[in-house]
Amino acid sequence: MRSSKLMNIILIFCFIIAVSFSIYFYIQSKGFQSKIMDATSKETVPTYHFVLIGEEMDHDYWRLVGEGAKDMEEKYDVFVEYEGPRRSNPEEQLKLLDIAMKSKVDGIIVQALNDEFLPVINQAVEQDIPVITIDTDAPDSKRSAYIGTDNYEAGKLAGKALVEDTAGKATIGVITGSFDNAHHQLRVEGFRDIVEQEPGIEIVSIEESNITRVIAEEKAHNMLSDYPDITALYGTSALDGIGMVAAAESLGLEESLYMIGFDTLPANMALLEQEKMDVLIGQKPYEMGYRSVELMLDLVNNKKVQDVYHTNASVVRKEDIGDFDD
Ligand code: BGC
Repeated sequence: MRSSKLMNIILIFCFIIAVSFSIYFYIQSKGFQSKIMDATSKETVPTYHFVLIGEEMDHDYWRLVGEGAKDMEEKYDVFVEYEGPRRSNPEEQLKLLDIAMKSKVDGIIVQALNDEFLPVINQAVEQDIPVITIDTDAPDSKRSAYIGTDNYEAGKLAGKALVEDTAGKATIGVITGSFDNAHHQLRVEGFRDIVEQEPGIEIVSIEESNITRVIAEEKAHNMLSDYPDITALYGTSALDGIGMVAAAESLGLEESLYMIGFDTLPANMALLEQEKMDVLIGQKPYEMGYRSVELMLDLVNNKKVQDVYHTNASVVRKEDIGDFDD
């Protein structure tokens, strides 16, 4: 008799626990759904949940990539979670990739900064999560497609513009975003392959900026002091040009140096307008963002996609400012 009473108490207790857990998870899932709905301003939870992971949230270039991708929520049945470290941090970026994989999202769009991204991309694909690389490719991974600039060709474009503008005579210092990142390596390689064909051109120094304006300025300043014969600077990441100009100004060299950089961010365009930069290589970050989402939708709907989609890169000079649209 006593033991059946105890049994009843245990059963009631278990029942209460089970009901409490159900209520808790119901509230949690409602909260998550309403978060997605708030984020997408939709009335129902979208069918697809993609994650896009870029290099740096607090950066004009990546804001454009994110905007392009998020704008697709208006057009398609999709929620795009746009993620990235606040400041460039490959380890954190890799963690975000790992979390996206473990959360079993429907698709991952990621900038594959270096070789460390390869095993995680492969792991995601092995778990049936399609992966597209954006801005920087990992061609040896199992990703389904790449969308972004052909970074080697973009480096060649920069080299050709410099050769043309300097009539094949220059002593060059290079500021690159990072020695370890695939796209910066390609931008330097393409540039080198063009300028090294010119007997009157020499690259005397190359330093990395960690994609920050401050370090680009510091490295350019040291470079210009150590190599006073430098006549041209080439920067491969979006804020390098701004740092290079600041360094040249602080040394009173802004009139004489030839400057070529990457990306048509407003601050860079202003320098072009003021003739402090000679050339910018323009990319298409907004287009990369929206097309990556469209491609991912094709993938999850079993449509065939190509291996590589190159967005346009072009030489932008002062006279092209009005025509350039990113
Ligand atoms: C590159 C991006 C990079 C950005 C900021 C762009 O030129 O394509 O990968 O994150 O510059 O430096």
